[in-house]
Order: sequence, then C-alpha cells, then structure tokens
Amino acid sequence: MNVVIIGTGYVGLTTGVTLAYLGNEVTCIDVDKDKISMLNRGITPIYEPGLENMMKAAKARLNFATKYSECIINSDIIFFAVGTPPNEDGSPNLRYLYNAYFEILNYLKRKEKLTVLVNKSTVPVGTADELDSIIKDYGITNTQIVSNPEFLRQGRAMADTLYPDRIVVGGNCEAVECFVTSINP
Ligand SMILES: NC(=O)c1ccc[n+]([C@@H]2O[C@H](COP(=O)([O-])OP(=O)(O)OC[C@H]3O[C@@H](n4cnc5c(N)ncnc54)[C@H](O)[C@@H]3O)[C@@H](O)[C@H]2O)c1
Repeated sequence: MNVVIIGTGYVGLTTGVTLAYLGNEVTCIDVDKDKISMLNRGITPIYEPGLENMMKAAKARLNFATKYSECIINSDIIFFAVGTPPNEDGSPNLRYLYNAYFEILNYLKRKEKLTVLVNKSTVPVGTADELDSIIKDYGITNTQIVSNPEFLRQGRAMADTLYPDRIVVGGNCEAVECFVTSINP
C-alpha cells in the first residue's frame, strides 16, 4: 500500500514508522524543514522507546519530505496528523488541517483512482463533512474521508500504535471503513 502521512509529530511519525515497518511504502511530509532533515539523517525528533530501532528497520520503505509532490498522486491512503492546538476559547484550531487539505487538492484532481483521506488529528464532529464539501466544490469526486482519531500515550506511543486497545473508525462507506480498520496495525 502507498501511504502518505501529513504532519510528522508524535502521531504522524509513530503511525508512519509503524506502517512502513509492517510493509507499506510510506512518505511522511512535514512543513518543518529541520525536523525532516533530522529524520532523513535517521535521527528522531522525539524520544519514544523502540521508535528509532523501528525506523532503522523500516528505512527502505520510509521517505521523509517537505514538499507535497507526486507521492500524493501515487497514494492509496493519506493520513492527516497535523496539530490542532486549542484556540483561546478552548476550541481546536483547524488552520493546519485545512491548509494541508488545500495543499493536496491540485494533486487529487489529477488522480484517477480512489484516495482514502484519514483524519487522525483531533477535530470537532462535522469537520469531515466540511472538508468533503470543499473537495467536492473543487470538482474532485474520487475521495472518501474517514475519521480515525488517535489515542496513543506519549512515552508508550510505539506500543500503543502496534497494539491499540481500541480503533475508532467512522465514514460514509462501510467498505472504506473496513479498509482503514485493516490498515491500522
Ligand atoms: N501527541 C499525542 O499524544 C496525541 C494523542 C492523541 C491525539 N493527538 C492529536 O493528533 C494530532 C497531532 O498531534 P501531534 O502531537 O502529533 O502534533 P505535533 O504538533 O507533534 O505535530 C504536528 C506536525 O504537523 C506539522 N504540520 C503542520 N501543518 C502542516 C502542513 N500543512 N503540512 C505538513 N505538516 C504540517 C507540524 O510541523 C508538526 O510537525 C492533534 O490533533 C492532536 O490533538 C495527539
């Protein structure tokens, strides 16, 4: 499976490394050049037990990039794992998530096959519907958005990703929900 991860923080990096370790071709994209430069040198910007070893083991199937590129066109599934920090009123700031979606629209438009877009970021109910409308307004019809919120605990991120005690998946198509459930480790 060709996987793209957008946002290479705690959630994105552990998801990307685990999926590559399990045999998928994974490209992790982040706008933070320093972070990507470290990752390309095999250095992890966060400490999680097992992460660096798994990253080494999965090296052949793991790419890190700062630019949205052809990998979007070749992808089967794209995970969004950008930050959603709280606004002053406590609501999550969705700016980074919307920016990431806007970045990929032109690539999605050039794609023929179905792309599954998975929101791992923590977002309010209704966000996937809003993003879906934006995509449809742009004339793109071959995408399915699925919500797959993350429950990892920092310090146990690799164990929680490899052996999650729950997987929550929601969308509008049962077959696609099953696909996302099955790609979860
Ligand atoms: N960290 C946790 O323990 C945890 C647990 C459960 C859920 N979550 C949720 O998961 C989401 C991600 O959390 P995190 O802790 O991994 O965040 P993080 O801040 O560690 O990482 C987010 C990354 O996204 C990158 N980014 C921002 N905009 C981007 C863009 N347009 N394109 C590409 N990269 C972009 C940032 O540079 C950053 O490296 C949040 O919604 C958070 O609430 C986090």
